[in-house]
Amino acid sequence: MEVIEILREASNRIYENVKDLAGTEHAAGDFGRGAGGDISRNIDIVAEKTVLDYLKEINFECIVLGEECGRVELSDNPKGYIIMDAIDGSANAVRGVPFFCSSLAFATENKLSSITDGVITNLVNGEMYWASKNKGSFFNEERIKVHNSDPIYKIVGINISGATVDLMKRLHPIFENHNHIRHFGANALEMALFARGLMDIFIDLRDKIRIQDIAAGYLIVKEAGGLLLDADLNPLDADLSYDTRVSFIAAANQKILDEIMSQINP
Ligand code: IPD
Ligand code: CA
Repeated sequence: MEVIEILREASNRIYENVKDLAGTEHAAGDFGRGAGGDISRNIDIVAEKTVLDYLKEINFECIVLGEECGRVELSDNPKGYIIMDAIDGSANAVRGVPFFCSSLAFATENKLSSITDGVITNLVNGEMYWASKNKGSFFNEERIKVHNSDPIYKIVGINISGATVDLMKRLHPIFENHNHIRHFGANALEMALFARGLMDIFIDLRDKIRIQDIAAGYLIVKEAGGLLLDADLNPLDADLSYDTRVSFIAAANQKILDEIMSQINP
């Protein structure tokens, strides 16, 4: 079975197991702090267990790097890493705000740039975004590309959750300059919408995003033709470590990148 099929099947199983749980009291059950540093909620635990059980069922030889469960070695002879954020947008999922997803990626080495497969599933409706290296990005069965012409409405995604006053001051010109600003609260799904051409640029300069929140989106954005850069505008890469936090800019093309960056780096 191809790795991408394994990730897709694992994501489908998460969807089946959590679709009636979101927004219920049961979803919120507190399991203490997970490996990623946030409180693990029952819905996070149910979703992670779904993936771990499935990988064990099919004897997939890998190391899992889960946001809640931490590093789980499923083999002495691993083929690579499964980078798992079983629920991205946990706060939305617990409150019942219909914007949360799962993010599963496979990497052969300890680097974002070694990711070969990624799947992001919208857990509200089961819609799936997926990519394998050099094979393009897909939304369900349809090939997707970033938006590459002048948009009617320029949609600028910015993650401002927990942003410092200094960062908000730096970003202020973007808010002022008649851009249509959006922030939905599930990083991976926002990257997927960007890859599908529904946003022109998506920015997170908070230095807070974990590897698990970005891994699948990394490949889906790149395979959809997007530019994916770090805060210094170099190609994004990072170690798959629990201490890693990144900032990034996903831009549909150089023109929108230059336009937005000239507003915040005048
Ligand atoms: C969070 C979401 C959110 C982002 C946070 C992440 P989680 O992931 O992606 O959009 O602002 O930084 O921690 O905790 O729901 O998996
Ligand atoms: Ca999570």
